Amino acid sequence: MTMTTLTGERSFKLLLLHAFLLIMLSAHLSPALGFISGVGVGDANNIRCLEGERQALLEFKKGLVDDYGKLSSWQSGDENNNCCNWEGVRCCNLTGHVLELHLSAFHYLSGITKPFGGMISSSLLELPYLTFLDLSHNNFNRSYIPKFISSLSNLECLDLADANLSGPIPHHLQNLSHLQQLYLGRNHLKNIENLEWLSHLSSIEDLDLSSTNLSVANDWLEVVSSLPNLKTLWMQSCDFPPMSLSSFLRFNDSKSFASLESLDLSDNQLVHIPKSLGNICTLRELHLWSTHLNGQLVELISNLSGCAKDSLENLDLSENQITGSLPNFAIFPSLKRIYLSGNKLNGTLPKIIGNLYKLEVLDVSLNFLEGVISESIFSNLSNLQYLYLSNNSLSLEFSFDWVPPFQLNEIQLSSCNLGPRFPNWILTQRNVSYLEIYDTKISDTIPAEWLVDLPPTLKLLVLSNNHIYGRLPNVSTKRLNELAIDLSANSLEGPLPHFPTNLTFLNLSINQFSGSISSLCKINGQLLAYLDLSHNRLSGRLPNCFMQWPKLLILNLAGNHFFGEVPSSLGSLSVLNTLSLNNNNFSGNLPSSLRNCSSLIVMDMRNNRFSGNVPAWIGERLQSLIFLSLRSNMFNGSIPLHLCWLKDLQILDLSLNDISGTIPQCLNNFTAMAQKRNYSFESFIPLSYDNRLVEAYFDSVMVELKRNEYEYHGRNLGLLKIINLSSNKLIGKLPSEISSLLDLFALNVSRNNLIGEIPQMIGQLKQLESIDLSRNQFSGEIPSSISEISFLGFLNLSYNNLSGKIPSGTQLQSFDASYFIGNRALCGPPLTQKCPGEETPSRSEVTTKANEENEDELGKWFFVGTGCGFAIGFWGVCSSLVLKRSWRHAYFLLLDNMKDWIYVTITVNIARLQRKIQRQG
Ligand SMILES: *[C@@H]1O[C@H](CO)[C@@H](O)[C@H](O)[C@H]1NC(C)=O
Ligand SMILES: *[C@@H]1O[C@H](CO)[C@@H](O)[C@H](O)[C@H]1NC(C)=O
Ligand SMILES: *[C@@H]1O[C@H](CO)[C@@H](O)[C@H](O)[C@H]1NC(C)=O
Ligand SMILES: *[C@@H]1O[C@H](CO)[C@@H](O)[C@H](O)[C@H]1NC(C)=O
Ligand SMILES: *[C@@H]1O[C@H](CO)[C@@H](O)[C@H](O)[C@H]1NC(C)=O
Ligand SMILES: *[C@@H]1O[C@H](CO)[C@@H](O)[C@H](O)[C@H]1NC(C)=O
Ligand SMILES: *[C@@H]1O[C@H](CO)[C@@H](O)[C@H](O)[C@H]1NC(C)=O
Repeated sequence: MTMTTLTGERSFKLLLLHAFLLIMLSAHLSPALGFISGVGVGDANNIRCLEGERQALLEFKKGLVDDYGKLSSWQSGDENNNCCNWEGVRCCNLTGHVLELHLSAFHYLSGITKPFGGMISSSLLELPYLTFLDLSHNNFNRSYIPKFISSLSNLECLDLADANLSGPIPHHLQNLSHLQQLYLGRNHLKNIENLEWLSHLSSIEDLDLSSTNLSVANDWLEVVSSLPNLKTLWMQSCDFPPMSLSSFLRFNDSKSFASLESLDLSDNQLVHIPKSLGNICTLRELHLWSTHLNGQLVELISNLSGCAKDSLENLDLSENQITGSLPNFAIFPSLKRIYLSGNKLNGTLPKIIGNLYKLEVLDVSLNFLEGVISESIFSNLSNLQYLYLSNNSLSLEFSFDWVPPFQLNEIQLSSCNLGPRFPNWILTQRNVSYLEIYDTKISDTIPAEWLVDLPPTLKLLVLSNNHIYGRLPNVSTKRLNELAIDLSANSLEGPLPHFPTNLTFLNLSINQFSGSISSLCKINGQLLAYLDLSHNRLSGRLPNCFMQWPKLLILNLAGNHFFGEVPSSLGSLSVLNTLSLNNNNFSGNLPSSLRNCSSLIVMDMRNNRFSGNVPAWIGERLQSLIFLSLRSNMFNGSIPLHLCWLKDLQILDLSLNDISGTIPQCLNNFTAMAQKRNYSFESFIPLSYDNRLVEAYFDSVMVELKRNEYEYHGRNLGLLKIINLSSNKLIGKLPSEISSLLDLFALNVSRNNLIGEIPQMIGQLKQLESIDLSRNQFSGEIPSSISEISFLGFLNLSYNNLSGKIPSGTQLQSFDASYFIGNRALCGPPLTQKCPGEETPSRSEVTTKANEENEDELGKWFFVGTGCGFAIGFWGVCSSLVLKRSWRHAYFLLLDNMKDWIYVTITVNIARLQRKIQRQG
């Protein structure tokens, strides 16, 4: 798949979408839908299974690794020996022979996967009447598809999709002459020389070969197109060369694809729509997303104007490079679902769309459409269920009391102009499950009667980035369904209202809410995974009720007026990834219970009034930390040696405290700063749901830094390594071990009482962009190696006891002289003071700015300023980069490692996911 041209945020969303699509797709295809359980002949329980088959099933179980105990009903004792009643087993109600095995790992309704591991035992051969075998979504450890399966000669359905199988497809499958459904997609099948075996399976109706590498199977098209009964063909991501597709053009005779109803060639190189597709008179669904289609839409679809135009119901051309305006879709009278998102379409939404009265899905999001849409366009669209117009420049101008003819399931109108009044028609939509209307220029209050009684179906409500003002009424407190709410970046004020118990995600950041947050303690459905209240006017002490939210992954309370001690119940958040309490008035010691938050990756305590020692348990127990900032508090004591245990640490900021003692020599234990490595970022894919704010913050930092952005992008922002210990009372030397942190980007130890020489080898730190050693008592000469640091953009050595000549012939001479002043014995350019035996520099006056005791100046080059939460900014940016670089890799990590994340991810991205699922419908 190639999506590198997309922006990070977009590819992230696509990523999720694809990930879930893949899961859902196969579940969708599996006739049994994976949720059949214990479907024996329980009703007619006089039917008993045969002993030989019972033994075969037990033998089969032995081959599996059943970590979830799903086969606990498969027992060898006397009690439950009727194997027709076992989980997933169906027998013939006359003979008692086992006919079907439903052992998919995917539970379609819950979306949860509980795979078996192990192997597929050949004991299945003792089930000679088996017609249905579903082992999809299990994990067979990259083993090959066993050849013996071809001897199960009665098989009608074989589902091995997404089962971690590999290798070639055994051509022996050609013996399965009764096979009607064959699902082998999303495995690691490769080295497929040909599909000749498939041509023997003339009964095949549904075929899934997605993600099978067919790059050398030159006969694939010939074979699949001549399967006489083929109705559904799924061949996403098959890597076949574009040339082989253009040979579609040869297939003009009516025998090819004689029965085809649904074709998915998405995520391959197609470039154009072959005319022959338009001649498939049975074609109802055509999925060609991400197939490099380009050119004018009107020309592309003219290739479908053969007899297919009358049958076509579902057309998906999203994520291509299609240009031009929206054509007259009325030439496809049966059309129900149109997906065109993520193309380059321009012009307006033509009124003629309103004639497609069968239309259920209209997705033109992420294009360049513009103009005003009035309600009349929808007057015949009473079947519309999914409306996606996001990310265009469209204005929706409906009369205030318009009552639409439709009841939508999903509404995505983000960045359309819906304002300034709250769109009243939305209140009429009582079946809606996903409602995303961020950045829609609404400048109004939210109707209280609606919020208090949200549609019971609603799962996601996004109203962020508008100008919604006023107090927030209570939100549907009686409802028991899960709900995610994002009202961030509005002008809401007053106290926090009550929220429903089963909230999963709450983002109220960047508003003017005030008062205490104790009322949130009523959210106790234990589902809350994301809580962002940052940048409001909330105050008071934090309530001690965090133990109610054991699934909390992100807690951001930054930029409020909270005070008092941090409650000990924060320590019960054992899966917490991000804790941002910065920019408040918290005081006291950090509670030692925080040592139990061992999953913390980001701990941001900046700009509070915390005191006491820097706790040693941070190093001992929070060993996943990548970002640690205690900047600008009242911590005292010395730097605990245990901090050196944080081998993944990339940002350490202890500046502006009262920390004394020496800088530990074990600095070289910060492995992440010493090595170029990036796994930490790839294994933590953040869900800062809305990256836009974050990027804005980052841009402002860039402006402050007066640096060219490209420099940073080139060097991969997410991987910056920074140490800031400035403005403390540190004594002793700067340990020479610092020279081993080879990937360090910025070092600031200014405003301490450090003595001794600057480490000679400091020039080894080739990645250093910024060094500030000012206002210490460093002595000796400036190490000449410093001039070898080619990226150095900032160097401040002022107010020390340095002596000798400033190393010359390098960029050091281009720095402002003020960064060298205050060293009585330093000489040479850019200082005016000439070294003994040298001529007077031509410059006469040097302005000195460095004596301004300016906090801003101090923080300027350093990223960790105030403003939006740095942590999220940091992750927001680096996620884009990571995903751009290796999104495919991240995709697998997402599925493998993000078990808890997935939960939130599903909630938040489910709209897109659902869209993908129903595309297949
Ligand atoms: C056996 O199954 C068939 C179809 O599967 C059904 O029509 C018939 O009623 C069943 N008989 C009994 C005794 O359950
Ligand atoms: C998976 O394969 C590896 C190596 O081939 C083996 O060590 C491991 O035990 C297998 N795991 C299972 C669950 O079969
Ligand atoms: C597939 O099997 C391989 C080999 O044992 C293993 O490394 C990998 O993690 C498995 N993949 C999944 C998704 O379980
Ligand atoms: C496939 O069927 C042929 C004849 O029907 C038989 O000779 C052959 O052994 C079978 N192969 C397998 C692997 O079952
Ligand atoms: C659409 O874009 C094309 C190419 O950029 C341009 O020539 C054309 O005028 C645009 N059409 C409209 C309606 O804006
Ligand atoms: C919602 O909360 C209620 C009561 O707190 C609980 O019984 C129910 O299981 C929760 N629903 C979900 C989906 O977790
Ligand atoms: C370096 O870190 C490891 C744990 O990551 C720790 O065991 C070791 O003691 C540390 N070394 C020093 C000198 O602190």
